[in-house]
Amino acid sequence: AIERTLSIIKPDATRRNLTGKINAKFEDAGLRIVAQKRIHLSPAQAGKFYEVHKDRPFYGELVEFMASEPVVVQVLEGENAIAKNREVMGATNPANADAGTIRKEFALSVGENSVHGSDAPETAKEEIAFFFSGLELVG
Ligand code: CMP
Repeated sequence: AIERTLSIIKPDATRRNLTGKINAKFEDAGLRIVAQKRIHLSPAQAGKFYEVHKDRPFYGELVEFMASEPVVVQVLEGENAIAKNREVMGATNPANADAGTIRKEFALSVGENSVHGSDAPETAKEEIAFFFSGLELVG
């Protein structure tokens, strides 16, 4: 089925000017960027987005990192977009990521891992709504 998923190009990647190279990976995999904006999250916004991880030991570090510099938030659309995006991203920890994936090629560490992608249809819906209004989403 055609799906939409929420993607974030993280501060370690925007800082190194990797937005275009990462977008090329998505587009080469058949994912269409149907919405995109560059924003600088406040710590409160980053904390809310990652609230599901609030009891994890890395939560504070994660929130601080995500609010440290601008990110690019985007909606990717395509056949099985959620799973396809996760394939293109590679494993969370770049040490475990397959060759050719975004995290293998660009990520610096498990924390500074260049990209985020929704993990399931319900979270994709919530995460897209967190960043984009209906008016910003072209049908
Ligand atoms: P993401 O897909 O954005 O979802 C949660 C993030 O937490 C994850 O990517 C990692 O960047 C981060 N994360 C997971 N494990 C660790 C860890 N051990 N230390 C720091 N950050 C982590």
